[in-house]
Amino acid sequence: IQQAAEILKQGGLVAFPTETVYGLGANGLDAVACKKIYEAKGRPSDNPLILHIAEKKALYDIVKSVSKKAEKLIDAFWPGPLTIVFEKADCVPLEITGGFSTVAVRFPSHTVAQALIQAAHLPIAAPSANSSGKPSPTKASHVIFDLDGKIDMIIDGGDAEVGLESTIIDVSGEIPMLLRPGAVTKEMIESVIGKIEIDPTVLTKPSQTLIPKAPGMKYTHYSPKADVILVQGNDLQKVQQKIQELVNDSTQKVGILATDQTKDSYNCEIVLSLGDRQNLEQIGANLFKHLRKFDFLGVEVVYSETVPQKGEGLAIMNRLQKAAGYKMITLS
Ligand code: TXA
Ligand code: MG
Repeated sequence: IQQAAEILKQGGLVAFPTETVYGLGANGLDAVACKKIYEAKGRPSDNPLILHIAEKKALYDIVKSVSKKAEKLIDAFWPGPLTIVFEKADCVPLEITGGFSTVAVRFPSHTVAQALIQAAHLPIAAPSANSSGKPSPTKASHVIFDLDGKIDMIIDGGDAEVGLESTIIDVSGEIPMLLRPGAVTKEMIESVIGKIEIDPTVLTKPSQTLIPKAPGMKYTHYSPKADVILVQGNDLQKVQQKIQELVNDSTQKVGILATDQTKDSYNCEIVLSLGDRQNLEQIGANLFKHLRKFDFLGVEVVYSETVPQKGEGLAIMNRLQKAAGYKMITLS
């Protein structure tokens, strides 16, 4: 931790574990250090970074003001997988906010992330530690695969518990808006601050006229090399039948993204189960790992089941739709 903190203080890059996904950290007040993040990831410079803190009072140095609703969310969900967008303080460089006057802030619950931020005694800018466009890394080996040789250090903290990136909420407007769904669900947030809106691009393909408020959400290629096609329907048995038909008709190397309830019913060489359909946390934790595994196995087309958009299901479906480039077969 001391060594990693030293690298951060000197303007270097350290990948570290958080409870959501691995982050690629740099000194968040140093525009030159943060530029290296964009280079290592191949990330467009208009896509802003999240600042990570490890004590609540560090927030007041990097934002202009904290609204009542934001205070309530902080008390309810920090530390944890919730990112909140604020008006930025002057010390936060525009280079890390993509030129916006706002800054996204998160206080992770992972003890290694907290220890690192405390030791560096800095707000740490950290996007997910993947190459831009790839699924976010949930294991140190994913970070090595994407960024080895491009960064100064990787701290291995084992598998990320949540496996999906943090929920992002903007409370600067009159009605708070969910910009990216995650493990802190819409339902959980509404139980604390009342009704919120969901950015329409969370479940609809962004376009020229429908632009996500979180710039990173406009990238649809968030995906494995394989084509991903979702098959959705109310009757799970019909979904299974349709997927089996598609597999039988395919001339490519095929994989199926299934669940514990269905995995044994398929006749296909490569079937990966996301977990128990009743346990969305488990499904969320396995999603990115499995998408990467299909690449590793050289799969060309993945047919995937879907989950209901309730609770963490909203975040899972958001990531699945992006991985699929919004290709979905809906059964009547
Ligand atoms: O769970 C997470 O949030 C992980 C871990 C490492 O903390 N980080 C992460 O960062 O997912 P990244 O950079 O991969 O995604 C950040 C998202 C992007 O979609 C970005 O556009 C959005 O947050 N964002 C950042 N600052 C913003 C701002 N001021 N206003 C709106 N969206 C913002
Ligand atoms: Mg990312």
